[in-house]
Amino acid sequence: MSDENPDRAMALEEIESLRREIRHHDRCYYGAAEPEISDQEYDRLMERLLALEARFPDLITADSPSQRVGGEPLSSFPVVEHKVLMLSLANTYSKEELLEFDKRAAKGLGADEIRYVVELKVDGVAVSLCYENGRLVQGSTRGDGLHGDDITANLKTIRSVPLTLSSPEIPFSMLPFEVRGEVFMNRENFEKLNKVRESAEEPLFANPRNATAGSLKLLDPRLTARRPLDLFFYSCLTPDLAPDHPALPRTQAETLGLLKKMGFQVTPGWKLCSGIQAVIDCCLEWEKKRESLAFDIDGLVIKVDSCIQQRQLGETSKSPRWAISYKFPAKQATTRLSAIHLQVGRTGTITPVAILEPVNLSGSTISRATLHNEDEIRRKDIRVGDRVIIEKGGEVIPKVIKVVLSARTGEEKQFTMPSDCPSCGGRIIREEEEEGGSLSAAYRCQNLDCPAQMERILQHFASRSAMDIEELGPALIRQLMAGAKVKNPADLYSLRLEDLLPLERMAEKSATNFLRALEKSKSRPLSALIFALGIRHVGVVAAENLAIHFHHSLDELKTASQEELQRVPGVGEIMARSIVSFFQAERTHAILENLRQAGLAGAKGEGVARARGEGKLSGQRFIFTGSLQYFTRSQAEGLVKSLGGRIGTSIGKSIDYVVVGEDPGSKLQKAQALGLTILKEDDFRRMVEVVHIS
Ligand code: IVH
Repeated sequence: MSDENPDRAMALEEIESLRREIRHHDRCYYGAAEPEISDQEYDRLMERLLALEARFPDLITADSPSQRVGGEPLSSFPVVEHKVLMLSLANTYSKEELLEFDKRAAKGLGADEIRYVVELKVDGVAVSLCYENGRLVQGSTRGDGLHGDDITANLKTIRSVPLTLSSPEIPFSMLPFEVRGEVFMNRENFEKLNKVRESAEEPLFANPRNATAGSLKLLDPRLTARRPLDLFFYSCLTPDLAPDHPALPRTQAETLGLLKKMGFQVTPGWKLCSGIQAVIDCCLEWEKKRESLAFDIDGLVIKVDSCIQQRQLGETSKSPRWAISYKFPAKQATTRLSAIHLQVGRTGTITPVAILEPVNLSGSTISRATLHNEDEIRRKDIRVGDRVIIEKGGEVIPKVIKVVLSARTGEEKQFTMPSDCPSCGGRIIREEEEEGGSLSAAYRCQNLDCPAQMERILQHFASRSAMDIEELGPALIRQLMAGAKVKNPADLYSLRLEDLLPLERMAEKSATNFLRALEKSKSRPLSALIFALGIRHVGVVAAENLAIHFHHSLDELKTASQEELQRVPGVGEIMARSIVSFFQAERTHAILENLRQAGLAGAKGEGVARARGEGKLSGQRFIFTGSLQYFTRSQAEGLVKSLGGRIGTSIGKSIDYVVVGEDPGSKLQKAQALGLTILKEDDFRRMVEVVHIS
């Protein structure tokens, strides 16, 4: 239509003005103390922008604030590789340990007095954001430090994350760079979120950190957009620039200043300290006033200020030598222990759990605590009805420290371990077992058909690192078991739509989704299946090593001797014995056969590549970039390792081969610039002489 142009021109003008206005309010919302407009007014601006963009979709730009509202839900998060490892920090808990850290640093630098920056250690979730040409291109979680989840869409919903940068005066802001920081939720918003959840009868989050992690894990960014998340940044990396490039900050204090100038919100309250005594004073001061902050901190981070000195000190494989965290002492609270429940684990271990009158402990409501085992209960003379002191330190589940003896009334009841399993009535037997070098007493239910054990086995089977069947939650497991439809993991794969529809909260859509998730899980690699089987002592890493060592063949693993198993990296005598006895058990045979018949790739050995020529890549270092067609990344890396080769972490002269898949990243250019040998996926396949087995 002829009059569309003026219409469009006017729309463009309004769109641009709305974007400017919304960006302004995004900036005020977090940085400044008070937002200038109400949330409703902000929503109205956003709605108007969305309406105009819907009418003129070609005017939508990637950096429009409308893009924060969140796009389509994802089925899973793609995995991304961090260009620079995301390390963690070594912890200290006392003044003495801080003095030791300073001594080590001073020795390493040959310096007397070191300048440090002390920053708040915000208790949230670490993320990394990559910018190119001043635009946010990717955001990810820390993951295992090397690979994280790509949660770009979720991070974009956080209003304090700049989508574009407008600081041309900062020379590297238009080059590729990466910023790292901590996503968190402030206490007030956390309380509000929990109130809303309470009235919707949704489960409550235990603390702001869990609420943050849960919000970032949502696959639908429109839901994340409704969670009041915020982000503080603390570091900036420019892997493409020489470390002494004149455009780069020379100190951590300068980095924080620069981040702020570029529009990134840095953690408030940081301080430059000359010498360790000033650091200690600063830490003790924050310990006293931590409650005055609007968000939770679990300590402070102490960083050597000078970047040259940071490089001089370097890092270990886990953490930098130039930084350390000072963790606040664990917080304690007292409450009444109202009962002791017994929890049956997936291997039949019975663990006593203290049921407490709910009490607040550093921001979380605690109603359960671990009691480890009967010996511990005896040693601490813990009785039902006692007033107890509980403590929470770092990540660990709260534990009962001791009884307040002066509060005893005489009404308290001593606890004795029953001789029968609380779930199935089966016999409980006390087993002495070695754990971490000392003997401990574990009680175990001997009935292999114990429903509580099976419930945990199924939960474990469905977990993310195992078969990754998110739809199979505890409630569904209980229903499936109650209807006797599922007695072991293999039974899951014979479920049909008509078995599911009569179940509670199971409409056709959720039933189909669940069946689809089961179908998808069939292609999980053997390493995931090994882990999923829940063999005692076998964790994710051991499962991966076992799959590699036994050439991705379940048959080889099944028949391996204890000696052979002990040759696998990380597999000791106890684990090897447990694997042998697992595969000897009659019931295991039946389950594995059923899994194979159900068509699980891992159980069939199908689709799994096997390489010939042990040790042929010995000493060679490989790096992969881009997506591979034939292998998954972990299969390819596994092959290299099984042939004696190694996987590099970043492009450099020490890399022998760079294997390039589709859409390779910047690694390819770097590799070309360094003149490294580049292989296509086909070349790599020929090199490892892959044959298919089935
Ligand atoms: S620096 C190379 N600074 O603490 C070290 N970390 O275990 C990079 N954290 O994963 C971390 N506030 O999630 C640093 N001001 C701060 C921090 C901070 C919180 C978290 C971060 C990291 C963990 C260290």
